[in-house]
Amino acid sequence: MDYQQAMEKLAAAGQEHVMQYYEELTQEQKELLLTQIESTDFGVLSSLEDKKGENVRGKITPLAAMQLSQIREKEGEFRAIGLEAVKKGKVGAVLLAGGMGTRLGSDDPKGMYNIGLTREVYIFQRLIENLLEVVKEAGAWVPLYVMTSDKNHEATVRFLTEHEFFGYQKEYVTFFMQEMAPACDYQGKVYMEEKWKISTSPNGNGGWYSSMYKWGVAQKAMEDGVEWLNVFAVDNVLQRIADPCFVGAVIANQCAVGAKVVRKCAPDEKIGVMCSEDGRPSIVEYYELTEELMNAKDENGDPAYYFGVILNYLFKIEDLEKIREKNLPLHIVEKKIPHLDEQGQKVKPQSPNGYKFEQLVLDMIHELDSCLPFEVERNREFAPIKNATGIDSVESARALCRENGIEL
Ligand code: UTP
Repeated sequence: MDYQQAMEKLAAAGQEHVMQYYEELTQEQKELLLTQIESTDFGVLSSLEDKKGENVRGKITPLAAMQLSQIREKEGEFRAIGLEAVKKGKVGAVLLAGGMGTRLGSDDPKGMYNIGLTREVYIFQRLIENLLEVVKEAGAWVPLYVMTSDKNHEATVRFLTEHEFFGYQKEYVTFFMQEMAPACDYQGKVYMEEKWKISTSPNGNGGWYSSMYKWGVAQKAMEDGVEWLNVFAVDNVLQRIADPCFVGAVIANQCAVGAKVVRKCAPDEKIGVMCSEDGRPSIVEYYELTEELMNAKDENGDPAYYFGVILNYLFKIEDLEKIREKNLPLHIVEKKIPHLDEQGQKVKPQSPNGYKFEQLVLDMIHELDSCLPFEVERNREFAPIKNATGIDSVESARALCRENGIEL
């Protein structure tokens, strides 16, 4: 793309300020900027105008979860089916590690955070240790796919390599990168990260499968005989991955996807809950949960929307293939976006200063025909690290690790 074409594209999107430093740039920087303008989809910014229509939802009704008591009754059967699938190499694990973890406030990828007190216990290490337990039980490696982003790929690969993948066989670890989207101020003008670079941020965790496909990693997984992908967040240090009982339950119930869920600790807990929307599986975000839904009861008189998702899903690849080309909704998220100020000086804001655009994995659920919400014991499997202190923090996760006998 040449200067003229870039100016035309920017003018059409109302983003001409991107060129304000152009004359100061070296030839190499000019080329970098022109290439970035060419590849940037400024179309996402137009979703700001539709922001008001964002929360239009279909008819919400309860979707029953398979509860602990029901799971215990069939545990033996489920575990046997799941273990068999793992042994045959049919189950892969996808670590979503492309996020920026801004709330935690560390400049490193979140998985590099050390939660240990008397020894080093990195978040990545905790997750891999949990997965290794299944590998040991099944006597077979579970292919591990790690999604990173432009912002943390190098650091993540270097860190895991330096730590020899915390005991995981490196032939079974594959990296792929997610897409980026421009980030803008409250007026919809994109921020500049450098004089030759538009601020971008990872485009959410909803694009994981299309990115995996774009990198050829999904095709390779299918060739290798992988049929199920257990997608999980980087920040829950207690979660079970490729858990045979969960895998077996989803297979036995012939569902397109399974979602691990926990019983909420309070009706207004900030966690998305499973539901049915216009007859299809779906998730209501906590901020969309009306008083009426919060107090609704199911046919047994129990709270109807009480099982929250913990970002641990088991997807059937065959069904993912059917929705690979679908456009998921874009969510506008208020975040802290580092940028150049009017004087061209770098600023690292302390509070949110604009918007990022994200697709979310939970929107994939609604595209699929069937979902099994599968209850797990909250104190044994849910210790998310979102913040440095307080709720869902390093402190709360440490306490839960101790409760589960994990030495820190
Ligand atoms: P979060 O919603 O906690 O987002 O991600 P985040 O960006 O990591 O953290 P904050 O909000 O800035 O503090 C939930 C999971 O989805 C992954 C994260 O790495 C985490 O495992 N994720 C999120 C991605 O892989 N890509 C993204 O673009 C966003």
